[in-house]
Amino acid sequence: MKFYSGLTIFILSVIPVFCWSQEIQIIPKPVSIEPQNGQFIFKKGIKIGYSNDSIREIATWFMTKFNRPTSLEANLQKGNSGEIILDVNSPKNPELANEGYELEVNTSGILIKANSKTGIFYGLQTLTQLLPPGIESNSNQQIEWSVPCVKIKDFPRFSYRGMMLDVSRHFFTKEEVKKYIEEISRYKFNRFHWHLTDDNGWRIEIKSFPRLTSVGAWRVPRTGTFGSADRKAPQKGEKANYGGFYTQQEIREVVEFAKGKGIEIIPEIDIPGHCMAAIAAYPELSCTKDTNTRVNAGNKFSDWFGNGTFKMNVDNSLNPSDEKVYQFLDKVFEEIALLFPGKYIHVGGDECYKGFWEKDQGCKDLMEKLKIRHIEDLQGYFMNRVKDIIKSKGKKVIGWDEVMEGGMSNAATIMFWRGWQAKDILPMAKKGGYKLIMTPTNTNYFDYYQGDQTIEPPVYASLRLKNAYSFNPVPPEIDEKMVLGGQSNLWTEKVENFRHAEYMTFPRAWATSEVLWSPKGTNSDWNDFIKRVEFHMPRAEMAGIKVAKSIYDPIVEFKKIKGELWVELNSEVPGTEIYYTLDESMPDQKSNKYSTAFFIPLEGTPNLRIRAFRNQKPIGNLLTYNVELLKSKMK
Ligand code: ACM
Repeated sequence: MKFYSGLTIFILSVIPVFCWSQEIQIIPKPVSIEPQNGQFIFKKGIKIGYSNDSIREIATWFMTKFNRPTSLEANLQKGNSGEIILDVNSPKNPELANEGYELEVNTSGILIKANSKTGIFYGLQTLTQLLPPGIESNSNQQIEWSVPCVKIKDFPRFSYRGMMLDVSRHFFTKEEVKKYIEEISRYKFNRFHWHLTDDNGWRIEIKSFPRLTSVGAWRVPRTGTFGSADRKAPQKGEKANYGGFYTQQEIREVVEFAKGKGIEIIPEIDIPGHCMAAIAAYPELSCTKDTNTRVNAGNKFSDWFGNGTFKMNVDNSLNPSDEKVYQFLDKVFEEIALLFPGKYIHVGGDECYKGFWEKDQGCKDLMEKLKIRHIEDLQGYFMNRVKDIIKSKGKKVIGWDEVMEGGMSNAATIMFWRGWQAKDILPMAKKGGYKLIMTPTNTNYFDYYQGDQTIEPPVYASLRLKNAYSFNPVPPEIDEKMVLGGQSNLWTEKVENFRHAEYMTFPRAWATSEVLWSPKGTNSDWNDFIKRVEFHMPRAEMAGIKVAKSIYDPIVEFKKIKGELWVELNSEVPGTEIYYTLDESMPDQKSNKYSTAFFIPLEGTPNLRIRAFRNQKPIGNLLTYNVELLKSKMK
């Protein structure tokens, strides 16, 4: 504490609201952190030096962000001097590779060194996390601005660290997409997978085929549970006015914005299945050519039989036997390739129903001509044609893991998602010599609910923060060298607005970011992670991000033991106590304190109410299980 005057120590200890607690709580956790004594205190008019013009834009971004809440009027100067110095290494430091950085804070200043613009950006993101939470505010904060002295060296474990957003099931505006990109860039994600087309809307302007958006981007408005039988199909004459799309100019703007945040966009055009919106616009692209096809409004059109098997009752697949379909795709991908400068285009390939292909004479003739016996191989033929189209545009293909089944060439990178079939799919990928991006359902599907089923928005499966943090991008069936990285996916059937998209993403994306960035094994220390998560929640909220607090809701598990119902309660967060009642009173700290599994007498029992407490205060939500729900657990 030798850097402090006696008065400062007095102020720091007596008025904690004005002081910053000097904590180093970074997500994703850096490769190495060496805390040092003391702190750097920011003064008015500090200089931010940048070593060359390639990082001027990033230096400007940080200066603007810093000046907003601090009013300290930091300004830029070219060269390696100033209280904050941003220095692009010349020659490069091989250990840091393309995205790594070194950050040193001492009592007289801050130095960030990196080999690239992206590395400098990540160094500044880490510096932001060292600053008081008020740095995230848009309004002036009357506090002392300081950061703890520290030496950090940092670089990522994987080169592909992605988040996917589905904008088809529900549309998100260009500004919302930019906000999402900005939010994930804070945690050093470097890929944004944009799921642009599906049965419920085609979201990108294609100048050669204007009906894709004039028709395909709009569906009839509906409320009620997406995909349920009681949600009505579009009626004759009903106006389709829900939806939207991005013009090519807007796409360029988002691509440019993402680039400034170190993020490459992976556009996905999902084919040959999931194409009802395109078929509504151009029915001739399908086998059935049904001119009554409408953009799906979230009404049920398929039957699912478990284990991923299904039947589509409306034709939503492109016709693989029609040359005009390939001409269509050639033009579409020509425009896509010009809009997105990255090297990958995602072509989907998932959940393609082949029932209409099996009945189609053109498909039968093609199979005979190609000497193909299995309908799956017809998808292989289609995907390989698509791969050639993508290659002709100078790009590489990514496909969902189904594309391997029909024999798509290993020039394609596979996005592994069917976690429940890992034992079959991963050895197939290894044998075929494919590169993988790991995004398994069990740890990376953020459309699944993240807390207690009685209060979270209803979805068919659960994925708590702890599950997200247990993501293993290199399971035993494969080798690390096959894995480019991983990604979490936000499908939006049940995500109707952007705030909810944020709620479903955070804090679980922090778990994904750490697994993909930090050294192998970092995710074995749950208590350390959860401490950092709690530290980051108010910061993210200060930045206007809606963050789920589901971690505070007890984990409720039911067990049937000898014809009786027993309940086990757990918590994801250390240091919490759980109280419950079975007598309609609201749980408080005089109620039953949970210590071990207990029996519930179903006769006459009203509701089971549960709540977690910490430091004498309720934390998280009150959970209520009514008797019908309790009885259903006995079935
Ligand atoms: C998928 O979830 N259908 C890739």
